[in-house]
Amino acid sequence: MQERQPSLIDRFDRRITYLRLSVTDRCDLRCVYCMAKDMTFLPREQLLTLEENARLGRCFSELGVHKIRITGGEPLVRRNVLWLFQRLGALPGIRDLALTTNGTLLTRHARMLKSAGVTRVNISLDSLRPERFRAITRLGDLNKALAGIDAALAASFERVKLNSVILKHRNHDEVCDLVQFAVDRGLDISFIEEMPLGVSSDHDRAEAFYSSDQIRRDLAKQFDLTPSTERTGGPSRYWRLNAAASSADGGRGRCTHVGFISPHSHNFCGDCNRVRVTADGRLLLCLGQEFSIDLRRVLRANPSDDERVKQAIRSAISSKPRGHDFELDAQPIIVRHMNATGG
Ligand code: GTP
Ligand code: 5AD
Ligand code: SF4
Repeated sequence: MQERQPSLIDRFDRRITYLRLSVTDRCDLRCVYCMAKDMTFLPREQLLTLEENARLGRCFSELGVHKIRITGGEPLVRRNVLWLFQRLGALPGIRDLALTTNGTLLTRHARMLKSAGVTRVNISLDSLRPERFRAITRLGDLNKALAGIDAALAASFERVKLNSVILKHRNHDEVCDLVQFAVDRGLDISFIEEMPLGVSSDHDRAEAFYSSDQIRRDLAKQFDLTPSTERTGGPSRYWRLNAAASSADGGRGRCTHVGFISPHSHNFCGDCNRVRVTADGRLLLCLGQEFSIDLRRVLRANPSDDERVKQAIRSAISSKPRGHDFELDAQPIIVRHMNATGG
């Protein structure tokens, strides 16, 4: 059996145990906070193959990573992606195999994902109103997303969480409805402050900013929230929903946790435990910085030498930056859109 190697620890004493692996930059939606209206996607030959992704998963797991989240774009549009889930799900070091998705293809894939070993699924849902959902996603059909959420529930993953990016005057008035929707189904939900990745021609990001604290104040009018120690190894800080609101939990016997991902108002970089690999094989050490390492070149130059790949990863970790420099009012310093990295 492969011996597990010392863990990845960076200059700031942060232990890297979480890999976010983006398998495509393509998506069947065009959410306004994530993409421009007209996008040029990577030519397919620039993507890592699924075999290369599986190899990276193995190398990272041997370096102490125990959580892998598959992201995109929309990961489920990648052909044969189930094969990758099966390979990653079989790695002995991986305790948590997770997926972030827009949900539209879950009706087709949820059960097989569960069989492949997927433990947790995060599904984007920014509005419960069909016309708004369409406006925010530019192409989406709310019914398809809701059917995907139902399919995830039916497949009995350990945990299903909704992600809502909240924009002032777009969907900020729906936060209570979204929480109630989560409560009724025994789901968790995270509210996310928009991050300035790529230029947004759709809206002014400073004007659209709606803080986590404001959302919490809005929720407090209808729900009883107390801070929770619950952690998932991600940036969400959770609050637990108490009493009556939680009683209708779809029979799941689990109370809803409401998370807040607040890169602007409560920076979480000090606890960062993750790195990400883009669909074309760049190892990005921070979502909010451009610096990256070309792992695709290392993989292809050393087709049968995992040790070289692991060395490249180890040395990259030593240059992980302290954190992001997101500024709401300035032009984004990060030119790539969110779909290039999967968040
Ligand atoms: P779990 O905690 O495992 O449930 O996942 P998560 O909430 O970290 O992952 P998900 O893919 O659902 O991402 C939710 C939001 O968190 C997205 O907007 C991501 O861009 C954001 N996010 C995840 N990791 C980071 C990070 O390291 N830095 C920043 N700024 N945002 C992140
Ligand atoms: N800021 C914050 N969250 C974003 N997401 C996509 N783009 C942005 C952005 N600019 C979220 C999606 C999805 C997750 C992967 O990232 O809503 O839930
Ligand atoms: Fe697609 Fe997710 Fe980006 Fe929306 S946020 S366009 S669903 S990748």
